[in-house]
Amino acid sequence: YGTATINENGHLEIGGKDMVEVAEQIGTPLYVYDVALIRQRAQGFKKTFEQLGVKAQVAYASKAFSTVAMLQVIKEEGLSLDVVSGGELYTAIKAEFPVEKIHFHGNNKSETELEMALDYQIGCIVVDNFHELHLLNDICSRREQKVNILIRVTPGIEAHTHDYILTGQEDSKFGFDLANGQAEAALKMALESNYLNVLGLHCHIGSQIFETTGFILAAKKILEKLAAWNETIGFLPQVLNLGGGFGIRYTEDDTPLEPSEYVQAMIAEVKNVTTTLGLPMPEIWIEPGRSLVGDAGTTLYSVGSSKEVPNVRKYLAVDGGMTDNLRPALYDAKYEAVLANRADEKPQETVSIAGKCCESGDMLIWDLPLPEAGSNDILAVFCTGAYGYSMSNNYNRIPRPAVVFVENGHAQLVVKRETYEDLLRLDLPLNEKTRI
Ligand code: LLP
Repeated sequence: YGTATINENGHLEIGGKDMVEVAEQIGTPLYVYDVALIRQRAQGFKKTFEQLGVKAQVAYASKAFSTVAMLQVIKEEGLSLDVVSGGELYTAIKAEFPVEKIHFHGNNKSETELEMALDYQIGCIVVDNFHELHLLNDICSRREQKVNILIRVTPGIEAHTHDYILTGQEDSKFGFDLANGQAEAALKMALESNYLNVLGLHCHIGSQIFETTGFILAAKKILEKLAAWNETIGFLPQVLNLGGGFGIRYTEDDTPLEPSEYVQAMIAEVKNVTTTLGLPMPEIWIEPGRSLVGDAGTTLYSVGSSKEVPNVRKYLAVDGGMTDNLRPALYDAKYEAVLANRADEKPQETVSIAGKCCESGDMLIWDLPLPEAGSNDILAVFCTGAYGYSMSNNYNRIPRPAVVFVENGHAQLVVKRETYEDLLRLDLPLNEKTRI
């Protein structure tokens, strides 16, 4: 996985660091990120566009993993950034991310969030619905401030992935419907505004997608509409944003393409269709999240208790679970893992990895082949870099793990482990004086 290797002590090594030592120094559970791999993925996307000679912006979808240090790495690599809330925007500002390269998404941005985006003069707002279109226009006219926007459309594509992470189909909470005239109405309204500068259209068809078909179909459908609108409204987009969603390999059952293959396929289609329809080639923007950070993240846990259900299975419990990785419980997501301290040993038994939450659904991995493991072994679960820390929570009042970046043989703490004090930071005791 990633750049993980096994060193002479039989320990798992990532970014030139011994994971057992890192676990001992910083404690478990712990998210470890291989920063070189993140940089490699980022450059890979940029290079693909360069090789194809296409003007592009690669925006990291920060919902996958947003911390100040992570956004600093993205800034260093020269990518743009997709944020979906005031909190993600605030993180970007704290990371001193270039504001003109920030794109703001979301299906229910509040007035405060829109004002915040305008205060910071971010690069563009991806308008999702009529409510937002009116609200943004009102706020901008009040402030006499112009803003770049993309209009998010739902192209009516059914990508093959988990229902909860499907987003491009017509019956979706996101975007303006392309087929029934909503998108056209939104575009006309935006074009009439003195404050909204329409850069182009946006679509995102889903996440953890293994095929190029959905991206190709989406691009085709949108470009065909654009050709029609060019005739009727005289609108030609500067930008076409085709979203993120490129799949990664969590287990050997997953069969994603190389990140560059998704890009190549969509660009080939865009070039083809624009040529056929006589449209100019737009700038292409994409928004990968998972494919930039997913396989760069590994979670280290300490093994604690175990339980044998005779003739059925052996449960091995770790010191984390659905609080640091909600994906198995939420999406039935699958992961692979090894013992970081005995990475050179062959599996001898099949165990199921349980978390420590008071909930039977708190299972991280079912039926994992492992050497015979027990208390104090270190379990390394691979590919937890996307939507792990970002969806972590404090169920059962369990503090969030720390996050460490490893690169070139160095490790650096980039998010501190939560303390019990942190958990109580916002709690207020009963107090008659503060009643309202
Ligand atoms: N752009 C938009 C508008 C999105 O909604 C998303 C993801 C992305 C880009 C990035 O998609 P990616 O490249 O990471 O697939 N929590 C789920 C994933 C939810 C994805 C939501 N939107 C999971 O853990 O699988």
